[in-house]
Amino acid sequence: MRTLVTKLLAMTVAALLYFGSNDAVHAQDSTAPAAVDRTATGGAQTLEDILRRQRGEAVPLDSGTGGAEGGDASGPLGSQGGLSDSELWRRARQGQTFTTSLPDKKAAVLVDDSGEQWLKTRSGALPTYSLYAMGGMIALLFLFLILRGRIRINAGWSDIKIERFSFIERFGHWLLATSFIILAITGLTLLFGREYLVPALDWAHAKMNPDATDPNFGKNIFAWFAVAGKWLHNNISWAFMISLVLIFVMWFFRNIPTWTDIKWLAQGGGMFSKNSHPHARKFNGGQKVLFWSVIIFGASISASGISLLQPYEYNMFSATFDKLNQAGDAIGYPLGLETAITPMQEMQYSQLWHTIISIVLIVIVIAHIYIGSVGMQGAFSAMGSGKVDLNWAREHHDLWVAKLEKQGKIPRPGGASNPQTRPMPMRAPKKPPTVPAE
Ligand code: HEM
Repeated sequence: MRTLVTKLLAMTVAALLYFGSNDAVHAQDSTAPAAVDRTATGGAQTLEDILRRQRGEAVPLDSGTGGAEGGDASGPLGSQGGLSDSELWRRARQGQTFTTSLPDKKAAVLVDDSGEQWLKTRSGALPTYSLYAMGGMIALLFLFLILRGRIRINAGWSDIKIERFSFIERFGHWLLATSFIILAITGLTLLFGREYLVPALDWAHAKMNPDATDPNFGKNIFAWFAVAGKWLHNNISWAFMISLVLIFVMWFFRNIPTWTDIKWLAQGGGMFSKNSHPHARKFNGGQKVLFWSVIIFGASISASGISLLQPYEYNMFSATFDKLNQAGDAIGYPLGLETAITPMQEMQYSQLWHTIISIVLIVIVIAHIYIGSVGMQGAFSAMGSGKVDLNWAREHHDLWVAKLEKQGKIPRPGGASNPQTRPMPMRAPKKPPTVPAE
């Protein structure tokens, strides 16, 4: 028994010493690597460098200009063609941009390993957080629907319709909406395809055909999706950009923010209580947030998309970082952003930015689609027929209705007629009267 206890104690002490010595190694790892004497190789790597790398230890970079790999190699007929500049090759390996007279500027970078980090983000964090963001918004809307229910017209239908959006406004909206939805679906297919769609297709295939043995089923189907999706994505993008310009021109003045909008937003648009309706003009605070999000994010998505469509043509990110650095310096807050970006990194930044901002806009648009359809009674017809119920308009856009009334464009309730409109009929008309918008 005593020998067993002695053995256990000895093993414990040995284990502690072992881990202690390991800690010591790790502690050493975290400090700067000890210098290596490379005079024997004229600055090129030594056997010690190779052994350190094999042990997984850090190898100090040569801060000198490098040197010949062995004296004999430096002659005109030397084995390395004269000189082997180790420092030069190390810089090349680390993505340094050299100079080139070729029109293809990316030829100035011999080895660019920044793609490793980009790929990790593009296939890891990006799809993961995108799923959280979109799933989170859908869950919130579902919760809102359960807790608050559909936002109904408190006063009920009035049977009087007033014009809210003209044909050209609705055309602009639906061109924007359909192109955006197609771009979102095809873009998400490309983002999630390999990680999620391929395994999902394989799983569905195996469920439906238990005897099937095609290991590439998912990949083959996804290849078709990807080719068709990319074609659609590239070509539909022009419709999106045109509609963006169209709605900007049509709705810019109506979306200039006012104090009424701040108050509307401060009250949450009255959406969380059944009888509260903060004042609003034709567009309320929430709609103005949507409008400016669509314009600003839509323009940014378009710019990064064009840079992806025409690779290596633009230096958007280095130019933007330069401007940000200048702005930071001007206000005494230097940002020190890297402006020497390789053409390949420009493309990587464009891809990441394009996706991140698209996901932000998709999340906002999911909320908009909910409110414009199932979430609010009477809203959809504004973009459907172009007309809305008078009571709906009074509750959600009272200042706009008041202006129309002042202009004599709305029949007064109770049968009294407005000088510029026909008298209200005594019975509810079969076909509700329509009055033009302001
Ligand atoms: C099926 C999808 C959609 C539905 C049902 C829908 C519905 C609506 C409705 C009913 C309105 C008028 C609201 C009002 O009268 O006050 C509206 C306006 C608007 N929609 Fe959509 N929409 C959809 C998709 C989109 C998409 C994808 C975008 C942008 C990418 C978008 C951008 C806008 C903008 C900027 C406005 C004007 C501001 C506003 O009224 O909120 N819509 N939409």
